[in-house]
Formats: sequence, structure tokens, C-alpha cells
Amino acid sequence: MYQHIVEAADFIRKSIKTQAQTGIILGTGLGKLVDQMQIEAEISYSDIPHFVVSTVEAHKGRLVFGTLNGRSVVVMNGRFHFYEGYNMQQITFPVRVMKLLGISELLVSNACGTINPAFKASSLMLIDDHINFLPMNPLVGPNIAELGPRFPDMSRPYDPSINQKLKSTAAEFDIELNEGVYAAWIGPSLETRAEYRFLKMAGADVVGMSTVPEVIVANHMQLPVAAVSVVTDLCDPDNLKPLKIEDVLHHAAKAEKKLSRLFSELMTHL
Ligand code: HPA
Repeated sequence: MYQHIVEAADFIRKSIKTQAQTGIILGTGLGKLVDQMQIEAEISYSDIPHFVVSTVEAHKGRLVFGTLNGRSVVVMNGRFHFYEGYNMQQITFPVRVMKLLGISELLVSNACGTINPAFKASSLMLIDDHINFLPMNPLVGPNIAELGPRFPDMSRPYDPSINQKLKSTAAEFDIELNEGVYAAWIGPSLETRAEYRFLKMAGADVVGMSTVPEVIVANHMQLPVAAVSVVTDLCDPDNLKPLKIEDVLHHAAKAEKKLSRLFSELMTHL
């Protein structure tokens, strides 16, 4: 496994001159951030040894290198989900590769449904903590000692210093940024009313089908990570409307401008 990560990183290093400082993972419907970049190079996942290829249509499946507001970045445009049938090691493989490429922090975004009635559609939520309801953890199996310890600490999984910067940047540019707990749910079927009630009782504010595996792996490698959720639908168990993927994409597109601004402005503070 470690050898595969090294091989993928070596391949990218040979193809790309850019030394990326920040890694960014773009969630469903949130790919437009790359339009704000000065792109230097792109590589399709299918060209990188040992990478898997995203099956979700809204995802493009490319690593994009360049600068965002003056900072050198590598952007994963398209991520992998457990519901696609990949295992946890495959989903998190790119994060490990980006770490080997030398990034100093990782920013993650995702689309989510909100169980917290105070959050509105198209609003942003800074993830302060998470609950892993996926039936697996990416660190199960022999520990890769070259990357990190057997029992990584998760007392502050989202970097307090980056979170502070995200909050002050949001305030500076008048972007509403709530804060809360993200629950990862396996999908691809959406949650039932009873499951939303359960998630609420468990202490979650929002629910989605990604992010947590990548964040666990980043913590394992002591790679500082922060994540912002885009609320795409309201999940009120007592008044639940059928969810349409078009609505998710519509709200993601609306919120995407705010997210791009937030990430882009953050670059000058990292
Ligand atoms: N659950 C509910 N709503 C959502 C999700 C989810 O996993 N992802 C995006 N909207």
C-alpha cells in the first residue's frame, strides 16, 4: 500500500513542476473553484498509477495544479465515495498522495443535508467535529507506520487555527458561516425520517456521504485539515420532502460562489 502511494506521488512529481502548498477537495456540485485558479497543469485520475476513477457524473475526476489567489494549490475535482463501492483505502488514497507531494494543509468541501433547523439551504457550515457512521474506518488493517501511528488522536480532528482563519475570513467578507457536527452516512439511499431523528439525537447538525474518511487519514498523517459543508437540503423528520438531486445541485451552485470566495480569501492567511 505505502509503495503504491509513493509510486503515485513520484509519477505526479515527474509530470508537474508545481509544489502545491494547500490541497483542496471539492464536493458534489462544487467544482467551479477551479475557474478562479490560474491553472498550471491537470492530470486525469485515470492517468495516475493506482488512482481509482470517480463514477459520479457531477464529478470530473482530475487533479488540478496551479495558484489560487497567489497560493500554490492542488485541487481534487471529484472525490470518491464509499457508496460507489470503493474501499476506504481507495477513497483516501489521493489524500495520502497529496501529503507525500508536500502539502501543508488540506481543505475539504461537501454537500450535505441539515438536521439543524437553524441552518438554511445554500448556507455554509464549518465542520467543528464529526461522527463516523460509515461501517468502516480507513485505518483498519496493518498500520502504515511511515504515515502515522496506530491509534491517532482525534480530539481536535479539524485544525483550530485554520478554523479560526476561516471564521475571521467569513466575517470579513460577510459570508454566513455556521459551525457544527457532520455525520457521515453510507448512502447512496437518503436517510429515512427515523434516521434523521436518530442523527439529531446523536448530536449531528448535518449529514452527508463523504469527508470523514479523508479527515481521518489526514489526522493519521498529522496533516492539518479543515472542512466546510454546503447545505443543499433541509432534513426535517416531521416535514420531510422527497429529495431531488437537481435541488442538491441547485443549492450547491448557489452556495458555491460563497465557498469559492471563502477558500480563495483564506489563501492569503495560510
Ligand atoms: N443526506 C441528506 N441530504 C444530503 C446528503 C445526505 O447525505 N448529501 C447532500 N444532501
